[in-house]
Amino acid sequence: MNDSEFHFQGNPDLLPDSGSTSWSAPSNIALVKYWGKYPVQLPANPSLSFTLEACATRTTLEFEKVSEHASSLADTDKLKVFLDGQPAPDFEPKIYKFLERISPYMPFVNGLKLRLNTGNTFPHSSGIASSASGMAALSLCLLEIEKQLDPHMDSLRFSRKASFLARLGSGSACRSIEGGLVLWGAAEGVPGSSDLYGITYPGETDPVFQTYHDTILLVDRGKKEVSSTAGHGLMEGHPFAQARFQQARENISRLEDILKRGDLNAFCELVEVEALSLHALMMSGEPSYLLMKPGTLAVIEKVRRFRKESGLPLCFTLDAGANVHLLYPGALSAKVYPFIQQELLSYAQDGAHICDRVGKGARPLTLHRRNN
Ligand code: DP6
Repeated sequence: MNDSEFHFQGNPDLLPDSGSTSWSAPSNIALVKYWGKYPVQLPANPSLSFTLEACATRTTLEFEKVSEHASSLADTDKLKVFLDGQPAPDFEPKIYKFLERISPYMPFVNGLKLRLNTGNTFPHSSGIASSASGMAALSLCLLEIEKQLDPHMDSLRFSRKASFLARLGSGSACRSIEGGLVLWGAAEGVPGSSDLYGITYPGETDPVFQTYHDTILLVDRGKKEVSSTAGHGLMEGHPFAQARFQQARENISRLEDILKRGDLNAFCELVEVEALSLHALMMSGEPSYLLMKPGTLAVIEKVRRFRKESGLPLCFTLDAGANVHLLYPGALSAKVYPFIQQELLSYAQDGAHICDRVGKGARPLTLHRRNN
């Protein structure tokens, strides 16, 4: 895998003594799932997602130059993390590991003292993973520093390298930079697709897919029962692994055709099979995980019945948890949302849900620079 295009090309002497950068990066929901990886953070199959709008992480990264030849990143003082303004030392080991992993591509991070202030637009206890949006926001903040050392960096290199770095933090994070439909992983016949970073899906797409709503039912707001690292690990030696990777590759090409034709019924079927395949893999792994709750199944059955009876293309997808993402074209929300309210909200904990939709991707918040 050739990652040489991501090596640092800037001038370290341009590093200001201190400064801060702020980015907001969205969450994303996979239509074709990434489940299974090999070192370092490379996907066993391509995946394709909708970038969301409302669910996002906002991060401000304050940096200070400490020493040209600074010691290891593991120096305890060099990184402090705050979540919603409160110290969050539990996040620090994961971020250290990330910084260590990216330092060959961003050597200047070794000489920085970092203070990371982060917060999510969705509640912490919602069961919604924040690693994708969090790692994407942090990568963009770091890239913003790199851009000061490499002023000629164009916007394509900027977002591509941000996606490349985000992937090293959390695979799905590389799909949280660009908006709309994002493809991560080398896919046959899709020019520009790569295992190293996510790209805006380049194929012909019916405009209806830019209008999609995602109403997320918080069926279980608890902490994730299985970490994604452990979950991906289940695919090593899984009896269905090779068949699954092949199924995902085929689903990517089938989805390409569906997106082009705007075939919403076929879209519903494919997206649901992907979600249930993900859970089937977890159920049949060793150890085995059953992450759906009774409410998840009740919602699934009601969604399918509603689709059959109304003929409206409402479908569901799932992450590695019990919450249900309800996907439908924006133009149908006057018909679909009342059904969700009347028939499905009772399965969400305290009726909790998030009304989200396909979004435009990450965006800078503010940029301050200081030269002492
Ligand atoms: C089920 O990206 O969280 O959401 O690379 O170990 O951080 P790591 O895994 P992660 O896995 C996401 C898995 C998924 C499906 C998907 O988003 O494609």
